[in-house]
Amino acid sequence: MNKYEIAVIPGDGIGNEVVPEAMRVLEAAAEIHGGLSLQWSQFSWNCEYYLKHGQMMPDDGIDTLRSFNQIFLGAVGMPGLVPDHISLWGLLIKIRRGFQQSINVRPAKLLRGLESPLKNPKDFDLIVVRENSEGEYSEVGGRIHQGSDQIAIQNAVFTRKSTERAMRYAFDLAAERRGHVTSATKSNGISHSMPFWDEVFKEVAVDYPEMNTTSTHIDALAAFFVMKPHIFDVIVASNLFGDILTDLGGAIMGSIGIAPAANLNIERKYPSMFEPVHGSAPDIMGQGVANPIGQIWTGKMMLDFMGYRELGELILGAIEDTLQAGVRTPDLGGRAKMMEVTDTIIANLKKRA
Ligand code: NAD
Ligand code: IPM
Ligand code: MN
Repeated sequence: MNKYEIAVIPGDGIGNEVVPEAMRVLEAAAEIHGGLSLQWSQFSWNCEYYLKHGQMMPDDGIDTLRSFNQIFLGAVGMPGLVPDHISLWGLLIKIRRGFQQSINVRPAKLLRGLESPLKNPKDFDLIVVRENSEGEYSEVGGRIHQGSDQIAIQNAVFTRKSTERAMRYAFDLAAERRGHVTSATKSNGISHSMPFWDEVFKEVAVDYPEMNTTSTHIDALAAFFVMKPHIFDVIVASNLFGDILTDLGGAIMGSIGIAPAANLNIERKYPSMFEPVHGSAPDIMGQGVANPIGQIWTGKMMLDFMGYRELGELILGAIEDTLQAGVRTPDLGGRAKMMEVTDTIIANLKKRA
């Protein structure tokens, strides 16, 4: 029996609802496998914790998480209770950086049984590789002057190491897929970081002569996501561009509630963190209607990363069977409650086993 220690941080809002659902599916998958045991440890670090303790996690939070194999997180943020820059920087981003989870992998594909909101989309299956540690999300900046002269400055930081790491990851991934990497750039308007980004992309591409490469400005790229997403295989993007593109990726699949993500420490020196693309959705919390598929598919990505790819494929198959049967939450135009969707996914998983 292979045992894995998983730290669970449900977080805020619907994170608390969809995480237990995904755990039920992962438990069912582990049972089917027979040789895999997932040991869950829960941490109630969220905005309520902040209101009680003045911080999003204890001082030794990162040290506590270090000993786990992986981290399974729902979503963080309750803008009505705690300002987002405090809650997110105090937990989500702190973990991403603390464990050098510098690659964020976010797939989007046309699922069997689900209509995309796009009109007659061709079959698309793409993966965004998002640089996850720097870029536009830097800590460099500040405010100067006061009153009407006040200025806020935010510097975008692009290191060669992290830029190259994201690009190499994208090329390696494309080598296992259809061999096409698109770089999301904006070197026509952003005059330092993006020409640098293009340069590194070209340099890395030299090491992968068998790959097809394209460099596309992010504005046009966003439009192509809507008009012809089937042209994409792997897209490598900076932190902010990747963030925006991947909500769009969720939307063209049918809902951001189904979009999965993996924050990877590719060196496997520290735990990686698995959390869906969507947030805590305060507008629908407590109603039992949150779509659990984003979190469940994210669980599948965790299994993939741990080396259980076949089991992961079973889960995705069971998700598609469920969608095909019309068991869908309201964000997908259905009337099913969250738990009914999970129950059906588990039943379909057992049928496939
Ligand atoms: P959001 O993703 O929470 O919600 C956007 C819209 O999508 C809402 O209408 C919501 O109801 C819907 N939605 C999201 N997930 C859904 C699901 N699983 N099922 C059905 N509908 C779903 O984005 P937001 O409103 O911008 O952010 C809310 C809070 O979450 C903020 O505090 C934000 O900072 C935070 N956030 C956290 C994460 C994270 O922790 N990874 C990610 C994104 C946003
Ligand atoms: C995401 C989220 C986060 C990000 C926010 C909540 C800080 O939008 O994971 O996509 O921008 O990385
Ligand atoms: Mn986002």
